[in-house]
Amino acid sequence: MATIKAVRGTRDLLPPDTTLWNHVEATARSVFARYGFGEIRTPVFEVTELFARGVGEETDIVSKEMYTWEDRGRAESDRGQSLTLRPENTAGVVRAYIEHGMTDTGMLQKLFYIGPQFRRERPQRGRYRQFWQIGAEVLGPPWSGSDSALRDAEVLEMLATLLTELGIRGWRLALNSVGSAEDRQRYSAALRDALEPVKHKLCEDNQRRAETNPLRVLDSKDPGDQEIINGLPKISEFWSDDSRAHFDQVKAALDACSVPYVEDPRLVRGLDYYTRTTFEFTVGGGSGLGTQNALLGGGRYDGLSEMLGGPKAPGIGFAIGEDRLILTLQAQAEETEAAKLDAFVAPMGVAQNPAALKLAQELRRAGLGVEVGDGNWRLKKSFETADKLARKMIIVGEDEVNSGIFTVKDFSQGEQAKLARTELVGALKS
Ligand code: HAM
Repeated sequence: MATIKAVRGTRDLLPPDTTLWNHVEATARSVFARYGFGEIRTPVFEVTELFARGVGEETDIVSKEMYTWEDRGRAESDRGQSLTLRPENTAGVVRAYIEHGMTDTGMLQKLFYIGPQFRRERPQRGRYRQFWQIGAEVLGPPWSGSDSALRDAEVLEMLATLLTELGIRGWRLALNSVGSAEDRQRYSAALRDALEPVKHKLCEDNQRRAETNPLRVLDSKDPGDQEIINGLPKISEFWSDDSRAHFDQVKAALDACSVPYVEDPRLVRGLDYYTRTTFEFTVGGGSGLGTQNALLGGGRYDGLSEMLGGPKAPGIGFAIGEDRLILTLQAQAEETEAAKLDAFVAPMGVAQNPAALKLAQELRRAGLGVEVGDGNWRLKKSFETADKLARKMIIVGEDEVNSGIFTVKDFSQGEQAKLARTELVGALKS
């Protein structure tokens, strides 16, 4: 009988990987708690209209990537209702904010979530049809300070702290502002005009976007279209004074906290609810992600609550692709191990220095990468240095030199073995 496999684009998470997933989630929870965030859990499916109105009909997500079905409920009221597996969680959080009257507290709401999202994308490394997000949203009535640039900077500074605590190396924060809803409208109109005479030269997808949602043309990856895209007007030319001031305040607060960023005038993001600040964190080479190098994305959505029939409640948030975060951590851990020397030779006492150097000479001549310690050092210092620099440590004491049998400690396995001098090269190369 044919075996049954997991659906394309979905995967099983197994031990020992799940240990790393739990560690990442525990670290995120601990950082979020320090910044005053509480957890929210919303359903994995919602009525389709939530995403059509919130994320936008013309976005790739809503127009082609959602898992949508008609409910076969028994009750008249359920039957025929269009439901969708959530492709993202911001719309669901704002729906819950409105539904539970959270605005009435007058307080800023700081909410985080960890959970699966669903998009029918072409699966590849770092891109799945069921993937996990770790996200957070800050929102509230305007008098709670929810529209302050301070909140944008706080969220970005928290992300920098989280990535650093997780040990992610080489991240890059790209920052932009898509302006207010009015700025965006004027910019869209200008883009439409600028694209009109040249759009026949664009790829098929972009020809459609040039009419339906011209901002989306900007983050197209199609190499043939880049020249036209580079010549298009920039959103910054359409910022109102308020939008510009807000962006300047975000940057000043980031500078004060020493959070590095790069301004990217083309960063418009693929969801329609964004206003003003938008951002993405990427990781460069060695991330194991290839082209799917956006680790997380987010921005401000000052009009989303009203688009969903709620009160005025500006907000800002982000979502980290947890699958991509894990892939990056794993690739960077391998890179660290690969960069280490094969062995660290540790003489026990100054009298063993010559013998240690001689052993290092033999091993280096056999093609191994080796560092030598010093007999002056305490054992603890030798251990710590060896662990940082090399995968294995060879202890050179008087007994070892006389017997020709050496103790070799393997840091990655946490094991210790006794090996004859003639076996050392083979064991260190394996
Ligand atoms: P997004 O950019 O669509 O934003 O997704 C955020 C992150 O989720 C991406 O940067 C990526 O790491 C990950 N991601 C997206 N699609 C996939 C996939 N198919 N496979 C694996 N990972 C994926 C949002 O979802 C917004 N709700 C973020 C936000 C929150 N904005 C404001 N608040």
